[in-house]
Amino acid sequence: MAPDDPPQVPRPAGQPSFPVARPRRLRRTPALRRLVAEARIGVDDLVAPLFVREGIDGPVPISSMPGHSQHTVDSLLAEAKRLVSLGIPGLILFGVPAHKDSNGSEAWNPEGIAQRALRALRDSVGDEIVLMADLCLDEYTDHGHCGLLGADGTVLNDPTVALYQRIALAQAAAGADVVAPSGMMDGQVSAIRAALDGAGHDQVAILAYAAKYASALYGPFREAVDVQIAGGGDRRAYQQDPHNRREALLEIAQDVAEGADMVMVKPAMTSLDVLTEARHSVPVPLGAYHVSGEYAMVKAAAAQGWIDGAQVALEQLVALKRAGADFVLTYFAAEVAEALGA
Ligand code: PBG
Repeated sequence: MAPDDPPQVPRPAGQPSFPVARPRRLRRTPALRRLVAEARIGVDDLVAPLFVREGIDGPVPISSMPGHSQHTVDSLLAEAKRLVSLGIPGLILFGVPAHKDSNGSEAWNPEGIAQRALRALRDSVGDEIVLMADLCLDEYTDHGHCGLLGADGTVLNDPTVALYQRIALAQAAAGADVVAPSGMMDGQVSAIRAALDGAGHDQVAILAYAAKYASALYGPFREAVDVQIAGGGDRRAYQQDPHNRREALLEIAQDVAEGADMVMVKPAMTSLDVLTEARHSVPVPLGAYHVSGEYAMVKAAAAQGWIDGAQVALEQLVALKRAGADFVLTYFAAEVAEALGA
């Protein structure tokens, strides 16, 4: 055997032997690597989350999410135009009202900040970018929970879902292409679908936050929407327990059965197993939400010079595609689109 011959796979006697595969042959040049890439992250995969806040004169930077701000309607429009020019196909909007109350009534007020912003977006960027509206109450309630509180402090399911129906109608009337219920109430998707259809909004789609874990990775988001959960509480009684995978698949299957047009898994990097399993069993488009804490961790380590933030971002986002996501909601959207276009 010549020194350069590939090693032989030993085979049982009588069977031919084959050279061992040598995967490094296909890693030699950038073109070879591109040719054989199994998963890709591209501009078309990105959805950018944006925050619009009532009662501010100019954008307010979110300190735990470097590069992101709470927007005025004007600065929101400018940012949306920039996303359009980068070729990003979707944005998801979160509203931060000036006044919060116990039932979150600004969430469905036709003149509420999210609805005003949606109308302005529809007028200025219209169909150039998909307008998604996060559909929840936590940004609007003074106690910071995603639903109505009962006398004992628990979040009530069905009365909350009735309010979600009102929010859906307000967002649809204001021009949302997609409403994205994120409160993890049981039955929210079918109730919202019925409300939309009943009001003639049959073309408004639902992106369900289907498998949404109770996670400390949403920390920076609380600054972004000015939310403190009353009494230092948490959302473990309605969001999912991170110990469970089968339960996530049940949540997803149920949302699809209830009429979700698209489903989403969140947080992203801690849910790769769920994404992969869902990809095999779920016929609708599947999203992953790379959340505020995931963004903040990369930014913080990069700011220290400990990692190359841009490379780590790409590595994480492509891992989500490889795991099975069709699209990714990420605070890196604009940055990655710029890098990919460069
Ligand atoms: C609820 C909602 C949250 C996020 C998206 N929608 C907060 C929560 O569930 O506690 C978190 C997103 C992020 O951390 O980037 N309206």
